[in-house]
Amino acid sequence: MTVEHDVKSLDMATGGRYRIEWAEREMPVLRAIRERFAVEKPLAGMRVSACLHVTTETANLMHTLQMGGADIVLCASNPLSTQDDVAASLVAHYEIPVYAIKGEDNNTYYDHIRAALDFKPHITMDDGADLVSTIHKSRRELLEDIVGGTEETTTGVIRLRAMAKDGALNFPVIAVNDSNTKHLFDNRYGTGQSTIDGVVRATNVLLAGKNVVVAGYGWCSRGIASRAQGMGSNVIVTEIDPLRALEAVMDGFRVMPMDEAAPIGDIFITATGDINVLDERHFSKMKSGAIMANSGHFNVEINIPALAQMSSQEPRLVRPFVEEYMVNGRKLYLLGEGRLINLASAEGHPASVMDMSFANQALAAEYMVKNHSVLQSQVYVVPEDIDREIARLKLASMGINIDMLTAQQAAYLSQWEEGT
Ligand code: ADE
Repeated sequence: MTVEHDVKSLDMATGGRYRIEWAEREMPVLRAIRERFAVEKPLAGMRVSACLHVTTETANLMHTLQMGGADIVLCASNPLSTQDDVAASLVAHYEIPVYAIKGEDNNTYYDHIRAALDFKPHITMDDGADLVSTIHKSRRELLEDIVGGTEETTTGVIRLRAMAKDGALNFPVIAVNDSNTKHLFDNRYGTGQSTIDGVVRATNVLLAGKNVVVAGYGWCSRGIASRAQGMGSNVIVTEIDPLRALEAVMDGFRVMPMDEAAPIGDIFITATGDINVLDERHFSKMKSGAIMANSGHFNVEINIPALAQMSSQEPRLVRPFVEEYMVNGRKLYLLGEGRLINLASAEGHPASVMDMSFANQALAAEYMVKNHSVLQSQVYVVPEDIDREIARLKLASMGINIDMLTAQQAAYLSQWEEGT
């Protein structure tokens, strides 16, 4: 009998399975964890509700949790990021209930979140904190069974820290995003490559010689800036933080306010986590043909309602994921409805970086099961020894050895008397 689900079509399952197995080749750390989990069953008896982007990499995480003894349900963490063939395969081949359809409307998105919560989780696994937020706003009866949660992304961690500060958070959550083996690689190299991939797949424009304006200089945006530069673009960075702006300058980028960048940019990419980074006053200055994409978690960084209002025509879908607006006789293009372009028109981060992110997720879930009774309703980071072990395993999987401190060097670092 097929497990409960709401996916596009189970007929897509075979293709999904091949792609899940393709991703697995690049996920050696998660594979090693899965092998241990299969023996030790650290998640036995745990119900896990996961709200993540439904991708080949996430499928490998779900399989790992399942091998660890967990009962799992998965829903989408964004209406436009689901890979329908993967959703089908998880249902058909892995017997995991999945609620996710690429392009689902907002109501369906929240119906799917509710379906995942009807599973009465012990552990929540979020990418953007929608499960935690829904539980605290409207499903408080579930709090009784929940031992803790994990959170994948910067935006979700910001929301959770705000909840904890207000005393509104009712169970411990581990901020996977804050692990070094997560944000230094996934946010930087993953977002860097997959965002460029998304823009190119959607538009097929040449990046060489283009003025690419990157909004923000956090880990994600610096990845995007560096990869766009590598493709030959003239990269302009906009920032509100003086320290980050200074870093961008010294990394060799032009830095200026968005008001100055708006008339010269050919391609605009936002990844700030904030709202209306591209707004009415910017649209009114942009060149005809300007392209806008967002790679931040929510579709609020580009003020789409204002863009629609300024447009003399209904947006025209001129290619998949490319909508044309007409502002004062100029054509402005919005990619992927302003949703994270790396997952909307491409496949998200490559498996090799998700390997480390999801190793953190699996080990954070195990840590939560072992330690929840001594944790407070706060936001925690993954313990440093776990973070370093993931780095060690990743290097080992690449066949790379590194030096070790000699006894003399270790002693030198732990003393304070010796100087010049
Ligand atoms: N976030 C960014 N890329 C992803 C991927 N490939 N799978 C799951 N979550 C992601």
